[in-house]
Amino acid sequence: MARVLLTRPVPEGGTDPILDAGHEIVLAEGPAPDLAGLVADVDGVLCMLTDRIDERVLRAGAAARLRVVSVAAVGYDNVDVAEAAALGIVVCNTPGVLDETTADLAFLLILSAGRLASDAERDLRAGRWQGWGITDHLGRDVHGTCLGLVGCGRIARAVARRAEGFGMEVLHHSRTDTGAPGYVAALPELLARSDTVSLHVPLTPSTRHLIGAEELALMKPTAVLVNTARGAVVDEAALARALEKGDIFAAGIDVYSEEPAIDPDLLAAPRTVLLPHIGSASTQTRTAMARMASQAICDVLAGRTPEHLVRA
Ligand code: DGY
Repeated sequence: MARVLLTRPVPEGGTDPILDAGHEIVLAEGPAPDLAGLVADVDGVLCMLTDRIDERVLRAGAAARLRVVSVAAVGYDNVDVAEAAALGIVVCNTPGVLDETTADLAFLLILSAGRLASDAERDLRAGRWQGWGITDHLGRDVHGTCLGLVGCGRIARAVARRAEGFGMEVLHHSRTDTGAPGYVAALPELLARSDTVSLHVPLTPSTRHLIGAEELALMKPTAVLVNTARGAVVDEAALARALEKGDIFAAGIDVYSEEPAIDPDLLAAPRTVLLPHIGSASTQTRTAMARMASQAICDVLAGRTPEHLVRA
């Protein structure tokens, strides 16, 4: 029997694979547990994207008997993957299982940001609504417009499928040519042509601030920016300024560079829908993510290759 550290409680049934395999689960306590201390007594860690699994934590684990870190997320920028590889610790993540739910949320932001749903609801709740007005709460049409996807992974493709139903032209950009219809080799061209730009790239050194002041200036003044990827892909201060100046029309944001802190200028920016990183937040999907992360730990501990290995 092995011991597995669970850094946060997960939805019911999420750790069944670990329990069914007869392993013991140790639940970390408190909002900011000392992971470096806790990993010294476990074989595996099931962590969240909010847990910083850095060199210090990994070395403390490797000095004892830690063999696997499994992140219940597709993004793993919180884990020092190179250090884990150097120490012989396997890192796993949960791609695939959250694609459709995250694409639903991206589409929700495409629609709600474009149609100014948050501003309109705020007015209604604050008692400012005076009745139907032909010039009130005028958003931008989504149907029949051009959607530019930055990234062409599974979530981007799931968003593209939804866009078809809205009669949208769909463009996509990635560093390598997909050979698929709608591929745009140059990011500036995609930004200039799109009515909505939706971001679907992982956070890496090359995607940090991929969308900054220069890129925002290339977008149409009527365009909408949607980010369900990682906050730091966007220069949030530049985004707040672009919204304030009317350089772009609106933004729908689910992820932030310093979560849970939000740049005060972004909070104050007009025409924004801001959600608290709920891209994958459905009971079914969060349970499936936890189960997949749990299964990966069991696989590694049993000497099997897990379905989704992260490579350094
Ligand atoms: C992920 O899995 O990386 C998502 O951000 C979770 O919502």
